[in-house]
Amino acid sequence: MTATATTGPVDPTTTDAWQRLAALAEGFSPDLRGWFAADPGRAERLTFDAADLHVDLSKGLVDADVLAALVALSEEVGLAERRDAMFRGDHVNVTEDRAVLHTALRLPADASLVVDGTDVVPEVHEVLRRVYDFAERVRSGAWTGVTGQRIRTVVNIGIGGSDLGPVMAYEALAPYRHAEIECRFISNIDPTDAATTLAGLDPESTLFIVSSKTFGTLETLTNARLCKAWLLEQLGSGVDEKAAIEKHFVAVSTALDKVADFGIDPANAFGFWDWVGGRYSVDSAIGTSLVVAIGPERFAEFLAGMHAMDEHFRTTDTASNVPALMGLLNIWYADFLGAQTHAVLPYSQLLHRFPAYLQQLTMESNGKGVRWDGTPVTTETGEVFWGEPGTNGQHAFYQLIHQSTRLIPADFIAFANPAYPLRDGETDVHELFLANFLAQTRALAFGKTADEVRAEGTAEAIVPARVFTGNRPTASIVAADLTPSVLGQLIALYEHITFTQGVVWGIDSFDQWGVELGKQLAVQISPAIAGDAEVAAQQDPSTRALIDYYRAHRR
Ligand code: F6P
Repeated sequence: MTATATTGPVDPTTTDAWQRLAALAEGFSPDLRGWFAADPGRAERLTFDAADLHVDLSKGLVDADVLAALVALSEEVGLAERRDAMFRGDHVNVTEDRAVLHTALRLPADASLVVDGTDVVPEVHEVLRRVYDFAERVRSGAWTGVTGQRIRTVVNIGIGGSDLGPVMAYEALAPYRHAEIECRFISNIDPTDAATTLAGLDPESTLFIVSSKTFGTLETLTNARLCKAWLLEQLGSGVDEKAAIEKHFVAVSTALDKVADFGIDPANAFGFWDWVGGRYSVDSAIGTSLVVAIGPERFAEFLAGMHAMDEHFRTTDTASNVPALMGLLNIWYADFLGAQTHAVLPYSQLLHRFPAYLQQLTMESNGKGVRWDGTPVTTETGEVFWGEPGTNGQHAFYQLIHQSTRLIPADFIAFANPAYPLRDGETDVHELFLANFLAQTRALAFGKTADEVRAEGTAEAIVPARVFTGNRPTASIVAADLTPSVLGQLIALYEHITFTQGVVWGIDSFDQWGVELGKQLAVQISPAIAGDAEVAAQQDPSTRALIDYYRAHRR
């Protein structure tokens, strides 16, 4: 049985596999100590390679029966068919009637993919060529500001997917950045964001990239106007306004007409397509600031890494398909074992924005209460994703992961090599760092029994407080180095994990209607804040009182 647009999604709870999983969950008594002791092949059997990622799922709360039932579930809900439909360009984004083709953004130039009558690959590579050309000119100094200065700072103005991907990747790939060009990012409509980001910048050597898929996002357009005013004011009255905008503003959008209305030369605009979702767009022209930072060659490696993971997901059997398995395990944890959140814990300071990036990817995609045919979901959906890099998290919230009453599956991400070479004779701090990653996953899996605590001479009264139950599930994702390609693989891994979960739940993982109401109300409330008594009177008592408070306290 598979889902089609006419029949709607399969209700996962009606499948045989779901019933089997429910029965398995009933008496489920995880015992990682026992499982590893009884089965010397467990670690090897549950460790998989996907492109350059080496992924150990053996410290997960899964046995052979659960795994078999999860794979069966994927078959009964039609994961492979839905995946193929996405890669093919079918309109799997049903509520917006669109194809979902972020995977086409990383196809090699000699590939071909005809969607709605057009081969999209040449278009993708034509935009890439223009972005690369622009980036090269900025990097070499051939592109100058209106006064002839070369560009030293690139400021990306965008929010959500038009910010989180570029800033996360810019941070992650810091060792690959151009030494003389800095990128900064403005996203929040809190005027503090623009003020602090622009502080100290030299307007003559600053270039703005206005990144907005729709070019209608209030935050981005407001910040773009602020930056335009800042630039013109800072450059002084002697400068030709039109020329200044032309030399200091470029745009990335699917709405090139609106870009022109803003005053940006269409020749300095890079387009993309409605089949690229915002949170899936770092590999489109939305990544232009990243291309400037790391250069076209490294960006091409980033895309190739994503493509390698796409191919793994597209062609590998579910039983050894890493994104599919990780997505299915998440279903097991969330729908059968009661997990409500999922931690992502990179043992890499460079990945410090990765959890924030994943929050949009996972929660904007799967935080839904209805399925793609409009019927209510039949299961719990959309875990809360969160995290911080190790080891900082260890000294903050790991207490709860180790000893609380909650089950928090956690993904650990680590690299064999440090991002920056050690100096001669220096202590190998990276080894100390990795020891922490290994220690944490071991402690979470195997815990510490009361007898072990007692054997250390602990007073009986505090033995219970020092016991670690263990059996707290983790996945370990490791690679040799955090290269552009490996970063691309990590991103694509999580995209496909998210997709897998969405298919099981029957969700359209590519719309985001839940962000609309707040946007509409902000526009509606705005006049009341500015003093319109009539609009204020239309608000509910709580909102009205808060507006009154604001007006009484605003200087
Ligand atoms: O409001 C949510 C959202 O639409 C995200 O999905 C998107 O990434 C973000 O806003 C920014 O949108 P845009 O790129 O169109 O400015």
